[in-house]
Amino acid sequence: MAGKRKVVYVCSECGFDSPKWQGKCPACGNWNTMTEETVVPVKQDSFASRTFPHTASQPIAISQVESGLEQRLSTRLSELDRVLGGGLVEGSLVLVSGEPGIGKSTLLLQACASLCGHGPVLYVTGEESLSQIKMRAKRLHISHERLYVFAETELDSIWSAIEKISPSVVIIDSIQTIYNPQTAATPGSVSQVRECTLSLMQYAKTHAVSIILVGHVNKDGGIAGPKVLEHMVDAVLNFEGDRHSSYRLLRAIKNRFGSTNEVGIFEMHETGLSVVPNPSAAMLSGRPENASGSCVTAVLEGTRPLLAEVQGLVTKSAYGSARRTSAGIDYNRAMLLLAILEKRAGFMLSSYDAYINVVGGLSLDEPAADLAVVIAIASSYLEKPVPQNVAVFGEVGLSGEIRSVSGASQRIAELARLGFQKCILPKACMNDLSSTGAIQCIGAATIQEALKAAFESLS
Ligand code: TYD
Ligand code: MG
Repeated sequence: MAGKRKVVYVCSECGFDSPKWQGKCPACGNWNTMTEETVVPVKQDSFASRTFPHTASQPIAISQVESGLEQRLSTRLSELDRVLGGGLVEGSLVLVSGEPGIGKSTLLLQACASLCGHGPVLYVTGEESLSQIKMRAKRLHISHERLYVFAETELDSIWSAIEKISPSVVIIDSIQTIYNPQTAATPGSVSQVRECTLSLMQYAKTHAVSIILVGHVNKDGGIAGPKVLEHMVDAVLNFEGDRHSSYRLLRAIKNRFGSTNEVGIFEMHETGLSVVPNPSAAMLSGRPENASGSCVTAVLEGTRPLLAEVQGLVTKSAYGSARRTSAGIDYNRAMLLLAILEKRAGFMLSSYDAYINVVGGLSLDEPAADLAVVIAIASSYLEKPVPQNVAVFGEVGLSGEIRSVSGASQRIAELARLGFQKCILPKACMNDLSSTGAIQCIGAATIQEALKAAFESLS
C-alpha cells in the first residue's frame, strides 16, 4: 500500500521533528537548525521481520555484573591504537570524522589489514566501487582472505551480509550514504543517519562486534547529522590536517574507553599513511636558518608536547587598509595579538599588512602559542631573526603580560630533546620547572621582557 508523500522538519542538532518549520527548535532551543525532509512511502515486506535477533535482558545488581577486562583489537597502527585508548574495543561503536579527502578511507583500510587477524572484517562502502577499493588496497599492499568488501547502501542487505560472514569488525564508509528502507526519509538526512546508527549501535552491543562508522563533516567542521550521533557512539575520532600538507592529526573528541587527550600523528605518502615516529622533528624540518619572522614554540597536543614553527610576515600596506591573514592560528586571536603588540610594545603595525602561518598545516588552538606569534611578527617587523636555538611559549594577556600555561616541564623536555638551548617562558612557570637539563630558561613577565630576551643577542 503506497503511503502519502509528506514533509517534516527535523532539527540537525537534537533530531526533534515537527510537521511545520520553526526558526527555533522547541526541543533544544537552537536557531535555524530545522531542515526539511521528505518522508517517502515505506516499502512493505522489507526489513521489519528481518531485524537481527533481539535478546531480552534483565536488570541485574551491579555487584553481580562481571567486569571482565575489555577485549581490545590492535590495528597495528600505533598512533591509531593510542588514540583509541590501546586498541579497538570489542563491541564498540566508533565514529571517524573528517573533511573529504583527508584520508579516512585510507586509514581504515590500512587498519583492516591487521584487524583481519582477529576475525573476518566487513568493509561496507557506499561511496566507492569495488574496483576503486581494490585499486586502493593494491596501492596499500593489503590483501587478506578474511577481508570482505561490499559496495552497498541499504541497511537490509548489510544485515544479510553480516549474517553470512559474521565479522568481528564492520566498517561503514560512510554513515551518510546508508539508508534503512523502513525509515521514511532520504539517505543522508538526519532521521536516516540517526536510525541507521541506532540499529548499528544495538547490533554492536548485543553481538560484541566492533563497528567503525565514517562520518562526513559539514562546512562548519561539525559532523553532518544530528548531534545525537555523537551521543550514540562510544568514541569520536576526528581526522584533521591540511589536505595540501602531508601531516594528519587524529584527535579523540570523545572516548568511553580511553582518554580524549590523545592525538595521533600520521603522514600521507604515495603508499598510504604511516605513523610519524618523531613528530616535533618532522614539524621543524626545513626551517630556514637566520631568517626573520620565524619562531618555534612548544604546544601540548593532549598530553604530548609538540614543537611547531610559527611564521609571521609584515610588509608596508600598499592600499589604505592593512591586510591580515592567519593560517593555523585563530584569526581573531591573531588580530588580538597584533593589537597587543601595537599598544603594549609600540610596534606601529596599523600601516602594515600582516600574515601569520603555522608550518605543516598544524592548527594551534592553545593560548601557549601566543608568545610565538608575537615574537614571529616582531622578528619580521624588526627584520631580526630569532636565534636558531631559541624557542618560546606562553599565553599573552591584554595588558601585554605573559601568563602561565600548564605542562611547562614537558614542553622544556621536548625542546631539550630537539637540541634547543634557550627558552623564553612565562615567569610564573619558572617555579613549576622540575629540571631544565641543558636548556637555559628565561622567565618573562611581559612581552617587552620577552622581546628583549629574544633579540638582545642581536641588538
Ligand atoms: P581518502 O582515504 O579517500 O579520503 P577520505 O576517505 O577521507 O575522503 O584519501 C584521499 C586522499 O589521499 C587522496 O587525495 C589521495 C591521497 N592518497 C595518497 O596520497 N596516498 C595513498 O596511498 C592513498 C590511498 C591516498
Ligand atoms: Mg572516503
